[in-house]
Amino acid sequence: MRIITADTYEEMSKKAAAIVCSQVILKPDCVLGLATGDTPLGMYKELIKMYENREVDFSDVTIFNLDEYCKLSRESTQSYYYYMHHNFFKHINVKKKNTHIPNGMAKNIDEECRRYEQKIKEKGGIDLQVLGIGANGHIGFNEPDINFEAETHLVELDEITIEDNSRFFSSRDDVPTTAISMGIKTIMQSRKLLLLANGEAKAAAIYKTVKGKICPEVPSSIIQLHPDATMIIEKNAAKLLYPSAEQ
Ligand code: PGA
Repeated sequence: MRIITADTYEEMSKKAAAIVCSQVILKPDCVLGLATGDTPLGMYKELIKMYENREVDFSDVTIFNLDEYCKLSRESTQSYYYYMHHNFFKHINVKKKNTHIPNGMAKNIDEECRRYEQKIKEKGGIDLQVLGIGANGHIGFNEPDINFEAETHLVELDEITIEDNSRFFSSRDDVPTTAISMGIKTIMQSRKLLLLANGEAKAAAIYKTVKGKICPEVPSSIIQLHPDATMIIEKNAAKLLYPSAEQ
């Protein structure tokens, strides 16, 4: 596990964008796994700038997103479909047919999970997966559990996640309680992982991810076993890793 600390959110975002950009330059038809949430917004802004400056071309890139809420239409401004189109896809030249987000409105969710997993396999797997992290250590929507869920699956969202994500909805009761998420095996099979974290609220989760026991109660701890994982951690999120640096 490679750990890069950044002094600011901007520095974290620029470094992350540079890594994604290098991946696309090295392999123009690569498969990227992308994440939603507040954390990667700065990275998307940087990538859009790089695209506008003709430093990167997404025309042959395929994208799979980590997760999507169930029972929220794609048009809803809280859906991850909306988030990705609004914050990234519509600003770059990725082809719509090459962007994939689980369909949380599917009638048969199990079938949708199988279809999504199969599609990733057909594309040859993910070259670089970007991850945020929940305050509870979730990656994608793989919540703390007694087992690691392997493949794309239906998730019951954790109370902490519902609380954390309620800031995006008009009330806590509007937050969906279920979602579709890539599983831990899907994520771990990606050739490279890039986890981003900023802010003190993530410090405990980052500490457990890096130094804790590998266990499904802290889903992100599994990253310790990945052969090519990079974490870019803004200094407030890294504060428990290097406590002496704080004094
Ligand atoms: P955040 O969410 O980037 O909005 O903090 C991260 C996550 O829950 O994975």
